Amino acid sequence: GDVAVLVPAAGSGTRLGPGAPKALRLLGGEPLLVHALRRLCLAPSVAVIVVAAPPGEVDAVRAMLASVAPVTVVAGGDHRQASVAAALAAVPPDLPIVLVHDAARALAPPALVEAVAAAVRAGAEAVIPVLPVVDTIKEVGPTGEVRGTVDRAPLRAVQTPQGFQRQVLAAAHAAAVDPLTDDAGLVEKQGVRVTCVPGSDHALKITRPFDLLLAEHLLASE
Ligand code: CTP
Ligand code: MG
Repeated sequence: GDVAVLVPAAGSGTRLGPGAPKALRLLGGEPLLVHALRRLCLAPSVAVIVVAAPPGEVDAVRAMLASVAPVTVVAGGDHRQASVAAALAAVPPDLPIVLVHDAARALAPPALVEAVAAAVRAGAEAVIPVLPVVDTIKEVGPTGEVRGTVDRAPLRAVQTPQGFQRQVLAAAHAAAVDPLTDDAGLVEKQGVRVTCVPGSDHALKITRPFDLLLAEHLLASE
């Protein structure tokens, strides 16, 4: 494999409701992070995995993952971008491709990892998996008044894993000013062209309780 995968897993999971940090919450009896790592390990391109864990859980996460996959575990930061930066700093220097994959997208299929890695290997500087937007999208003001309807045809919902030529991601993080919610956004600000590949319904981000319920069903039907 020629790919390092950074796994931001340091979030608290506020929108999922009270409980453990989200990456440690259970799906089918196992932590979301364990599901995510198993699938990453099934992707032949993946050589190295670096997990950014909740700062207070680094040792516990390391122990939990010891029997799952050979991974490096570092302490995450107080926002996602900081967690990715911490993981990036721990990647060995010889790997040319870096993917960033949310632990919260615990059921993303190995084939999606391979598709993103392959697009970077084929020459793209940055690659994101996307899905068309299905709902009508409106812009709404602070008191709930509709300001307008957005043309959804050119819109895409963006998933992870996102893939990068390593130096492109490193340069974007080094130049980053305000924290963003995805890495491709940082790269866009550098003027780098970002390429889309088809996403997967199974790569949904487990964010709210409904998503966890849906993921339980997806897991049971795999
Ligand atoms: N993440 C991270 N470090 C942070 C915040 C988020 O590594 N300081 C990770 C999460 O663990 C998750 C991914 O980034 O795998 C996407 O973030 P999100 O879905 O927002 O997760 P949380 O921040 O945990 O959830 P919430 O925003 O509801 O608190
Ligand atoms: Mg969050």
